[in-house]
Amino acid sequence: MTSATPPVNVADYQRIASDLLAPGPGGYYNGGAGDENTLRENVAAWSRITLRPRVCVDVGDVSTAATVLGEQLSMPILVAPTALQKMAHADGELAMARAAQATGTLMVCSTLASSSLAEIAAAAPTGPRWLQLYLCRDREVSFALVDQAVAAGATAIVVTVDAPYAGIRERDTQSGFVVPDHIDMPGVTAALGRSAGLTVEEFFSMVDPTLTWTKLEEFIAKAPLPVLVKGVQCGEDARLACDHGVAGIIVSNHGGRQLDNVAPTAEILREVVEAVSGRVEVLVDGGIRRGSDVAAALALGANAALVGRPALWGLTVGGQAGAEHVLELLRRELEVALALLGVTSPSKLTNAYVSGA
Ligand code: FNR
Ligand code: LAC
Repeated sequence: MTSATPPVNVADYQRIASDLLAPGPGGYYNGGAGDENTLRENVAAWSRITLRPRVCVDVGDVSTAATVLGEQLSMPILVAPTALQKMAHADGELAMARAAQATGTLMVCSTLASSSLAEIAAAAPTGPRWLQLYLCRDREVSFALVDQAVAAGATAIVVTVDAPYAGIRERDTQSGFVVPDHIDMPGVTAALGRSAGLTVEEFFSMVDPTLTWTKLEEFIAKAPLPVLVKGVQCGEDARLACDHGVAGIIVSNHGGRQLDNVAPTAEILREVVEAVSGRVEVLVDGGIRRGSDVAAALALGANAALVGRPALWGLTVGGQAGAEHVLELLRRELEVALALLGVTSPSKLTNAYVSGA
């Protein structure tokens, strides 16, 4: 593909973005933990799921619209929380929020965002948003961020529980990656006094590594918004999460960035869905690169999927327009997948639409 050929799918965006990014940011965005086995498997596992279409169904009117935790969205595809979006594009989170708003979907804003929640809300006033929260050693810092999220119109909090410490990310060590001087992460600066110049391990030092289900429940009791947990990877923890009062579960291995050699999310989704047994909504992320991957996730029982790197690649290549195009490509691919599977909306997908489930 030449640079004159417009990107037509996420893989095109990945290639172009990877060429544009400097080694430090590129390694940070694209890299995973250890030997990157889970990073690769996350993508590969979705393509191993075989779809099982029905034909001669009236699909004259197909819609990708979906309701996720009460939010009416154009599609069950959300923007996953990713740190440091200003490394992709000068407009960073503001452009991402505008892209999510324009495509009718929801952005989960990272604790490690390179813009404040107030700035994000001002950039995309009508776009739905959730706050991704790392519970800090200093809980006051976390509650201050929650207050800002409420003021910025966030409707839920996503507590990430798979990162009490940073994973072993050798690309960052090799590139000598540190947060660039010109970029501030207000959420980190509040906790650590500064963010520029920090290594990944240093900025993860703000995260409370003593978090337990009991402490999470204490947080949920005080939180003014529904709380989802992100990073659940087995049925036992899914049950515990429900018992401790979460409003939703995100099946995730952090895009293969934390513990290597854990199962790809496509392979553990069913176990979690069965354990949850309809008590709360289940979302999934990791390796989603096609609308047909989203269809597989929905057929396996997820209410929605999130994309991390695909949105970052779009942002890198074209700012708001690039991220918007990536989201619209995924929406369109999902729409075609629904029609060709013989269903008219995401909620109609069941286990019957995947082979061997
Ligand atoms: C992430 N992820 C992440 N998760 C989180 O809870 N808080 C965060 O700040 C970040 N930051 C972050 C930065 C970058 C560069 C990446 C790639 C990922 C994980 C993210 O929310 C999500 O779980 C994965 O990105 C999903 O995998 P895919 O879609 O990237 O394959
Ligand atoms: C990461 C963080 C910030 O994966 O969650 O780099």
